[in-house]
Amino acid sequence: MILRLKLLSLMFLVLSTSGMAYSKPGDLPQDEFERRREIFISELRELNACAIIHSAPEQMRNHDVEYPYRQDSDFFYLTGWSPKHAILVLTPKSGSHDTIEAIFFAPERDIKREVWTGPEKIFTDAMLLPGIDLAFSYDDFFDHLGKLVKGYERLVVSYGNDSQFEEACIRSLAKSYERPPITQEATSLLKAHRMIKSDWEIQALEHAIKITGESLEAAFKKIPTLNFEYEVQAEIEYGFKKRGAQRLGFPSIVGAGKNSCYLHYTGSQGALTPGDIILMDVGAEWDYYSADISRSVPTSGKFSAEQALIYQLVLDAQSAAIATVKPGASFRKPHHTAVQVLTEGLVKLGLLSGEPEELIKEKKYRKFFMHGTSHWLGLDVHDAGGRYDASGTPYILKAGMVLTVEPGIYISQADDVDPKWWNIGIRIEDDVLVTEKGHRVLSASIPKTIAQIEAVMQP
Ligand code: GLY
Ligand code: MN
Repeated sequence: MILRLKLLSLMFLVLSTSGMAYSKPGDLPQDEFERRREIFISELRELNACAIIHSAPEQMRNHDVEYPYRQDSDFFYLTGWSPKHAILVLTPKSGSHDTIEAIFFAPERDIKREVWTGPEKIFTDAMLLPGIDLAFSYDDFFDHLGKLVKGYERLVVSYGNDSQFEEACIRSLAKSYERPPITQEATSLLKAHRMIKSDWEIQALEHAIKITGESLEAAFKKIPTLNFEYEVQAEIEYGFKKRGAQRLGFPSIVGAGKNSCYLHYTGSQGALTPGDIILMDVGAEWDYYSADISRSVPTSGKFSAEQALIYQLVLDAQSAAIATVKPGASFRKPHHTAVQVLTEGLVKLGLLSGEPEELIKEKKYRKFFMHGTSHWLGLDVHDAGGRYDASGTPYILKAGMVLTVEPGIYISQADDVDPKWWNIGIRIEDDVLVTEKGHRVLSASIPKTIAQIEAVMQP
């Protein structure tokens, strides 16, 4: 089955607006996705390449039970399409305007399945995506594949981590004599686009961060009355759901006492003992964009003397690191700055001994600060890009990039220090947009100083 509806798509584009982006979740500005495809198509044209981008697979959890489905981020980036079993094929042409360059494959209507699932999006809905030239049934993909990729020098592909589709695709292409001689991962090209956020992406991130901040603050108030980590986690995640977040950006990390010292603690059964720190590293996802915020607060509502010293040191390191975020700075600058401040502070507190410069050279700070300070943030909580560009040098920050700044200190019982420091795990994480002139902390309104946290937690 085939449908061609350029005119209809055009009408849709005229009628739809991206203005009221956040009246409800899932209100996606389709023209944004069309623009992304157009930019990617131009890049493919330069490479004499076509592209196949596949949706994420559905994953079985156990018998008859699937994991909740989430679309692959690259696929979503180019389509805004959430349902499974979908393929975007881009076939750049030069010359005439009346060309077929964006082809969508999605399921046909299955009335028997809809008895279980309710109405589902099908390939005729894909025609309404502006800029989609043709729509076919997903089941017909391999009948078209040979023709679609014929004559290109390069095939740019993202299988969406669907190994079954990948194998079928490779098998099918192997039979074709005219397949492109070069194959390249789409992710390596798309990351350059995904690293610079549009105004709409920044709005989506801000909304995810707002939900996360409000939910955290509501949980802070309740923590002194709660007894277990899972209760704190429930308060935060209830706040996300109540505020319309579609899902978590990543599994919540909520650890109290000794559990605050496990960087990605996965439990939730620990007790909240008055006098402990509880570390929360959480993020709501809104329209596929994830927040990533860490706050560490005293379970009783008041920091002990030792906790306050460590907290203030991490906060000073974070403030100094955030201050370095601006266009032209290295992606590694916030980390190096945080390491410098933390190491000097740890020496002052007697937790490390020696010359800070020497301790940094020998990476002795890693005893208490054993992770990086930043990662990109966007559709994925650890968003596309990595630390280094193609030449192996750290990325240079540019306006539109969004990164986390999240130094920490973790002192566990295994550490050979005065026991008064034990079980203090502090991480403070904010989400920072690089602007033309410097930066903007997107999560600036979430309580962070000792005074702010203690004020919020007062009964
Ligand atoms: N939010 C978890 C992390 O950044 O690794
Ligand atoms: Mn993070």
